[in-house]
Amino acid sequence: MIKRNILCVIGTRPEAIKMAPVILALRREIWANVRVLATAQHRHMLDQVNEFFGITPEIDLNIMRPNQALTALTARLLLGLDDVLLAEKPDAVLVQGDTTTVMTVALACFYQRIPIGHVEAGLRTWDIQNPFPEEANRVITGKLAKWHWAPTEGSRKNLLKDGVPNENIIVTGNTVIDALLMTASRDLALGVELDPAKRLVLVTSHRRENFGVPFRNICRALQTLAINNPEVQFLYPVHPNPNVKDVAYEFLADVPNFILCEPLDYAPFISAMKCAYIILTDSGGVQEEAPALGKPVLVLREETERPEAVEEGVVKLVGSNYERIVQEAQKLLDNEDAYRAMAHGVSPYGDGKAAGRIVETLREHFLHSVF
Ligand code: UD1
Ligand code: UDP
Repeated sequence: MIKRNILCVIGTRPEAIKMAPVILALRREIWANVRVLATAQHRHMLDQVNEFFGITPEIDLNIMRPNQALTALTARLLLGLDDVLLAEKPDAVLVQGDTTTVMTVALACFYQRIPIGHVEAGLRTWDIQNPFPEEANRVITGKLAKWHWAPTEGSRKNLLKDGVPNENIIVTGNTVIDALLMTASRDLALGVELDPAKRLVLVTSHRRENFGVPFRNICRALQTLAINNPEVQFLYPVHPNPNVKDVAYEFLADVPNFILCEPLDYAPFISAMKCAYIILTDSGGVQEEAPALGKPVLVLREETERPEAVEEGVVKLVGSNYERIVQEAQKLLDNEDAYRAMAHGVSPYGDGKAAGRIVETLREHFLHSVF
């Protein structure tokens, strides 16, 4: 049997988490020679996820630089990728999500006429500035991909609206739920001292469009909430981007009931979500995971490409407005009815079998073209 070379590319923490179930499933296929390329757009945050899932990338571009600018990052990625693609000659390249790694891989593959499979295709806000630069990354990748693995019916409709032929779209669910189910039963120590008698507000925030005044407003709101609720503990594993980290520490380091820490490893972070009473986040992945764990989420963004959980009533957009964040979080802390209305488990993003469906598409394609 001719083996087909499948190159799976990962750059950042969420890509490593959401691609892991696909890599592990592909490795069980006898027709596939699976290779993993880490661009290492993230370094430590990528490495810890790979270690957890037992994945050692065969190729590592080691691209990350401190406080990297988008243009330089894009240029370094394109040049590095071109050489790897020439050497590897993959039959298909898989990418996940909407980072700069994803967009540059799509472009580099397009130039070398290599087919691309896009995991988590079709997410759209239809506002090219929000999220920045991810909406543009998705649109470009969507134009160039051959296989579009859409997590939901809504994302399939977005792709159709963008002109992608229906036969190239496969609704699979999101692999984030596959990863969550592989992980949630393995309770790992948080490495952070929490008081089990106190309610926990878990926070994450890192979006580029919030840098500057919006992120300062978010931090001010968090500070007010913590000061007004001394009986509640706040935990914020801070993203290492200096535009985030410096401001978060400026506003929150001296608040006694606010714990700031390094990013948590993936399994401990899932444990922290399970302990949380509510979650405040601008993360895409956390918006998908928290509903499955029955945790109410306030999204620190003006728009979301993940409307399904908002429609289910378990996620609410609060943006970066100081008053709105304080008001909506306080309501969930004070009003049990409001809390219960948002605290029921739903999983609009998947059933944990997305990776199997993705692999099936490739198996059908390559087995038919081999024999
Ligand atoms: C990137 C993605 C974003 C994704 C996020 C997930 C782009 C443009 N942005 O944003 O879509 O939601 O990852 O977290 O693709 N850093 C470290 N160690 C790490 C990782 C990052 O120190 O392990 C610091 C570095 O200073 C780095 C900076 O964070 O330069 C920014 O990293 P970058 O990947 O450019 O942007 P993120 O904000 O992490
Ligand atoms: N996550 C983690 N440690 C943390 C914060 C988040 O492992 O301290 C995980 C989280 O469970 C989710 C993913 O990282 O699966 C989300 O990544 P991030 O918020 O960085 O990116 P986004 O999803 O917004 O692209």
